[in-house]
Amino acid sequence: MTDKLRVFSGIKPSGDPHLGNYLGAIRNWVADQERYENFFCVVDQHAITVPYDPEELRRNVRQLVAVLVACGIDTERSVLFVQSHVPEHTELAWLLTCNTPLGWLQRMTQFKDKSVGQGESVGTGLLTYPALMAADILLYQAAVVPVGDDQKQHVELARDIAGRFNSLYGETFVVPEPVIRGVGARVMGLDDPTRKMSKSVAGQFHAVGLLDEPKVIQKKFSRAVTDSQQEILFDDNRPGVTNLLTIHQVLSGLTKEELEARFVGKGYGDLKKELGALVAEALAPIQQRYAELTDDPQVLDRILVAGAEQASVVAGQTMERVRQSMGLR
Ligand code: TYM
Repeated sequence: MTDKLRVFSGIKPSGDPHLGNYLGAIRNWVADQERYENFFCVVDQHAITVPYDPEELRRNVRQLVAVLVACGIDTERSVLFVQSHVPEHTELAWLLTCNTPLGWLQRMTQFKDKSVGQGESVGTGLLTYPALMAADILLYQAAVVPVGDDQKQHVELARDIAGRFNSLYGETFVVPEPVIRGVGARVMGLDDPTRKMSKSVAGQFHAVGLLDEPKVIQKKFSRAVTDSQQEILFDDNRPGVTNLLTIHQVLSGLTKEELEARFVGKGYGDLKKELGALVAEALAPIQQRYAELTDDPQVLDRILVAGAEQASVVAGQTMERVRQSMGLR
């Protein structure tokens, strides 16, 4: 037992993990590992809410687990596991779905965005996805959920679902709090700085992959869309340059003022070049550890088995309580 607050967070294996995932989430998970008791989950059942290729999913799950370890998730201090290895996630998701008003799900902006143009052929899983996400969090009685800005609404829904369940069936769940770091919580696409960087957006110059080679990283930054102005300043009306400066800020630790001063009299080319080098340098040790880890597939197998075992203990305890509360036992 520990008196540390419990953290749960997840990431979808739906494409190559990118700089937005790292700056908005993974980096913070790693930094706060000692402070909390941690559960980190590769949420494969979330990745199947849109059409996908089974072979690719299998590969992506392993790649993502290896990337998380390479980024610094320490399996001695954190439980790292794959969602589908712990069947309680889907059991609880169903029980929560039955207690979630349809209107709450229909209001989710991600559902609205992702279902555009699909009419009634849209997958039901895309609608009920937030109930599965609530199940992920509530199953571990997590108090703290560190996420990027785009997941805030889903974590708030998990809070509402927990509150509703507790009032209907008696105190069962810890009501979780989203934790969102200000800087880096919303990294934008390099090809279109008005859209957040996302695994599911096509386009060679959209996202910087955590496993991209230095040359590729440099090239992506050199093509980053900015504007026709000259000065390098943080400005909400100039999302391209602001996005580049923000990425720099997180990685260099410089303040806004220091950064603006650094680029006085310089051009976008200078900023892009320096940023490309900074990002490549930050990712180099991650890529090195990733290569070492994936050298021996058994290392990953052992991590996955141990993670599922540890997660199952807590998940099993919660489910016992939930089944009792709901009259299923
Ligand atoms: P996913 O896989 O889209 O993203 C994983 C984490 O990365 C953050 N993130 C970003 N942060 C900054 N800028 C960006 N452009 C950016 N893109 C992604 C996300 O906010 C997230 O923290 N539904 C979740 C996965 C999930 C989950 C959970 C999270 C499932 N169950 C329970 C927390 C708790 C998702 O699709 O994340």
